[in-house]
Amino acid sequence: MIRLGVNIDHVATVRQARRTTEPDPVRAAVLAELGGADGITVHLREDRRHIQDRDVRLLRQTVTTSLNLEMALWDDVIEVAAEVRPDQVTLVPEKREEVTTEGGLDVVSKEAEIAAFVKRFRPLGVRVSLFVDPEPDQVKAAAASGAECVEFHTGAYSNASGEAAHAELDKLIEAAFLALDEGLRVFAGHGLTYVNIEPVLAMPGLEEVNIGHSIISRAVFVGLERAVREMKDLLLLNE
Ligand code: PXP
Repeated sequence: MIRLGVNIDHVATVRQARRTTEPDPVRAAVLAELGGADGITVHLREDRRHIQDRDVRLLRQTVTTSLNLEMALWDDVIEVAAEVRPDQVTLVPEKREEVTTEGGLDVVSKEAEIAAFVKRFRPLGVRVSLFVDPEPDQVKAAAASGAECVEFHTGAYSNASGEAAHAELDKLIEAAFLALDEGLRVFAGHGLTYVNIEPVLAMPGLEEVNIGHSIISRAVFVGLERAVREMKDLLLLNE
């Protein structure tokens, strides 16, 4: 069974639009789990534009499935992660001006820094996943860093259509084979929707997908529990 991680950052984005207390990401996490989510994902950004430190602490106490903290290597965020000890940390690149995570982590140039992070967090019982583009060099560097998992960036696939989408899917499949050979666990995410998810599920060894925008968008109209259930049904149908 491919696990569904639901990214609830957008719930916090709506709350921060008014700097108020609703909608509450903790309530969203509970509803997502009721809808069948296998995990809850949040990104604690350096600029705290959506998820706040307090959300991460409360989610740690509330989430009963698996808490996946996306983060970049900022010192203060690393300290929150060390205190909260999520089940999983996904290291992502982060730029202040970006609307969402653009491109994968450059593990090749940051291998030593990432290896030090893995060395610190593994003994705390935190699984480390690296968000990477489906590039052989990045996969090899991810394995060398000691990380347990890679999440392949599906953005290029999601933004492409026709033949170009097929080509991007082939890259994802090849990169997943290489990751498995290198002993890494294989996840995928970014830009996945109810419409484009099915071909991605053919990636070899795929264990987990992380989806935010599409599910939260659908939830505006049908409610979060149902939106999650519908995505979960797609994953189950394609087993
Ligand atoms: N995985 C990672 C590592 C991400 O950074 C994001 C976006 O925050 C997602 C998955 C979810 O992407 P989307 O919101 O496009 O589904």
